[in-house]
Amino acid sequence: MDPKAVARWCDTRREAYATGGGGQRMEWIEIENPHRLRESERDAIADRCARFNLALYRFACTGTDPDALSAFASAMGLQRRDLTLDADHLGIAPVRVARNTRGREMIPFTARALNWHTDGYYNAPERSVRAVVMHCAAPALNGGETTLLDPDLVYAAMHAQDPGLVEALAHTCAMTIPAHEADGTLVRPARTGPVFRFLDHPPKLHVRYTARTRSISWRSDIATTRAVAALETAIASLSTHHVQVRFKAGEGVICNNVLHRRAAFVDGEGSNRMVLRIRSFDPVSNG
Ligand SMILES: [Fe+2]
Repeated sequence: MDPKAVARWCDTRREAYATGGGGQRMEWIEIENPHRLRESERDAIADRCARFNLALYRFACTGTDPDALSAFASAMGLQRRDLTLDADHLGIAPVRVARNTRGREMIPFTARALNWHTDGYYNAPERSVRAVVMHCAAPALNGGETTLLDPDLVYAAMHAQDPGLVEALAHTCAMTIPAHEADGTLVRPARTGPVFRFLDHPPKLHVRYTARTRSISWRSDIATTRAVAALETAIASLSTHHVQVRFKAGEGVICNNVLHRRAAFVDGEGSNRMVLRIRSFDPVSNG
C-alpha cells in the first residue's frame, strides 16, 4: 500500500474503537446451537471481528462435540484448516499438558506461561494462519488466563510513532524461525518473512510474531532492532485494549489470528485444562 493508504487504514482501524465495545468491555455472544448458527449470531461475530478482529462467544452447552465446534467455525468462514500434526481430520487440536516426551518439550503443551504470539508464525507464506478458534473444553484449577490484543492497534500505534518502524518489520527478511529437526529428521525448514504484511482487498493486516527470544533471529540491522523494541513497547502500552479472560467450559474466542498470550496454570487432580484449537487459512467471514 502507498503511504497515504496506510495512514488512512490506521485512522480507520482506530475509529473502529471510537464507538466502544472493544477491550475489557467486549460483550459475549451467546450461541444457542453451534450446529446451526442464527443469522443474528453470525452477524454479531462478523461485526466484532470486522471491528476488533476477535469475538468472545459462549455455547449454550458445555459439551465438547468436535463436529459442533467444526460446524461453528465453518459457518464463520473457517473452511481451509491447518491440519497440524496434533490436529484431527477436522483440524481440531487439543491443547493440554502432554504426557509424552516430545510434547513436554513444546511450551503450548506444558502448564507454563506462553508469551505474546500469533499462531503459525513458522508456517510458509502460502499457509498463513488467518483465523483461529480457541475453545475451552475444561479450565485449569488455577490460572491459564488468555490475553488477546488486536494487532491492528499495535501497527497503528507504531505507525503514529514513526512509519519507519512498521516499514522495518514489513521487510521480507525481518524475522527468521530456524529449521526444526527432531531425531536428525527435518520437520520444518527455516522460515524467513515479514512481521507485517497486507493481504486481500480491502486490505487486512497479517502478522507473524513471537515474543520468544530463543530459536528466532531478527534481521541484523539497527532499524529492525529498534522496531522490535517498539513493537514490544506498543503491546505493553496498549494494556487498556488487552482482552483478558479466563474461559470456562463452552466459552472461547474466534479471531483473525490476533496477538495472544497464556498465563501459567495448575491442573486439578484428575481434571486437566484443555483448549480445542482450530487454525484456518481463511479469515473470519459471515458465511
Ligand atoms: Fe497460540
